[in-house]
Amino acid sequence: MAQWTSAVGAAQLARQLQAQQPRPVGPGARRPPAYRALADGIRLLVLEGRVPVAARLPAERELALALSVSRTTVAAAYEALRTEGFLESRRGAGSWTAVPAGNPLPARGLEPLPPESLGSMIDLGCASLPAPEPWLTRAVQGAIEELAPYAHTHGDYPAGLPALRQMIADRYTARGIPTMPEQIMVTTGAMGAIDAICHLFAGRGERIAVESPSYANILQLMREAGARLVPVAMEEGLGGWDMNRWRQVLRDAAPRLAYVVADFHNPTGALADDDRRRDLVDAARSAGTVLVVDETMNELCLDPDVRMPRRVCAFDPAGSTVITVGSASKAFWAGMRIGWVRAAPDVIRSLVAARAYADMGTPVLEQLALNWLMRTGGWAEAVQVRREQARENRDALVAAVRRELPDWEFSVPLGGLTLWVRTGGLSGSRLAVAGERVGVRVPSGPRFGVDGAFEGYVRLPFTVAGPVADEAAVRLAAAAQLVGSGAAAGAEAPRTFVA
Ligand SMILES: Cc1ncc(COP(=O)(O)O)c(C=O)c1O
Repeated sequence: MAQWTSAVGAAQLARQLQAQQPRPVGPGARRPPAYRALADGIRLLVLEGRVPVAARLPAERELALALSVSRTTVAAAYEALRTEGFLESRRGAGSWTAVPAGNPLPARGLEPLPPESLGSMIDLGCASLPAPEPWLTRAVQGAIEELAPYAHTHGDYPAGLPALRQMIADRYTARGIPTMPEQIMVTTGAMGAIDAICHLFAGRGERIAVESPSYANILQLMREAGARLVPVAMEEGLGGWDMNRWRQVLRDAAPRLAYVVADFHNPTGALADDDRRRDLVDAARSAGTVLVVDETMNELCLDPDVRMPRRVCAFDPAGSTVITVGSASKAFWAGMRIGWVRAAPDVIRSLVAARAYADMGTPVLEQLALNWLMRTGGWAEAVQVRREQARENRDALVAAVRRELPDWEFSVPLGGLTLWVRTGGLSGSRLAVAGERVGVRVPSGPRFGVDGAFEGYVRLPFTVAGPVADEAAVRLAAAAQLVGSGAAAGAEAPRTFVA
């Protein structure tokens, strides 16, 4: 069987190569030979995640034609990429992109550190904010008052407390998506929801199409479940979903699941418009793929003028294609560990049955607290506080990074909690290592990619404001200085990722 999971056409690759900025050539230096420039261009597209790993490249003759170069040039470029580990080939199966073993870092998720262990370190590792008080305290007090009837039961509710299932269902119905409580399962965070979905649908070796980049811990969860990830490159900026690519991958790789974060995508902050949402559902339906839509960031629209698109599940009235995942973690507080799944009743029944062997259920007190918040209007007020805080943090961070690191590039998202930053050619993995030395913890781009893509990026969350945001940017600039000067010892990746 071929080792590739998607394909890139000659015209598309030529367009992407031609759109690259030409690399400056120093005074007196000679331009690299054409084959070398082509190999470097392809390598950069792979490392930046714009051409996925395991994507079949066009035949030499086709690419030569599309680029108006000789076939020998393409053959020499492919040979150089093979030698460097960026291309694998097999007779009859073609050539597909790869990342050399050990370079860059192996894929990993994010590991939150206990806040008490951080000392003076500024932690940009987690995209989660402290609880919007006094709402957490009030909700827990409200929950304690309502606990007595549940205290008389065994307390195991694998599908969730009936009252909270009804509440969550009613909230979808109020948004024009009729939902019954039988379509809702309460989970231990969105992570618990996606874990259950992967176990039900995507066993070992099964393919899952994912945005590239995507949320690091979900990618890691899927890898550990034994799935084969099929990356679909996000467009530059906030455009997000290139529907031609999605249609092609869903058709060619026929993955069992596709996982998307259509609302303020983590890490890029992109927001899918109505047309892309409809097209994603249509493409998934045609391919027989279950579309898992993670709405964890849904309520974090930071600009009041933005009109939120319709929920993706609104384009799937029969409920046969889309499974929706929600969470209280970003809109309210991650410490609650409450998420949910909305799906067809038979899917919910299967998820509930499987869940009995995982965590049995979600704690009753937290479910009561969330139900209290949603019932009393506290949720809406808390979300409003959360949005204002995140907006203030975003604006402070953006200003500080622009001031201290003017050659770092990013698009300012309209919502969510993350800034996806191109680090001016510096290795994100080295920046992460150097950051630890100068007192700032920052996750490198490859954690959000499949198989080592995004070496030239870091993710910055909207979790600090005021002088802390300023100091974070000062420390990031110090880390960049260390990396740029070659003084960042112990780094595991090349200083710059461009040859
Ligand atoms: C897109 C996305 N999904 C899921 C999660 C995890 O959510 P939870 O805390 O509800 O498990 C996060 C957290 O950063 C996220 O950004």
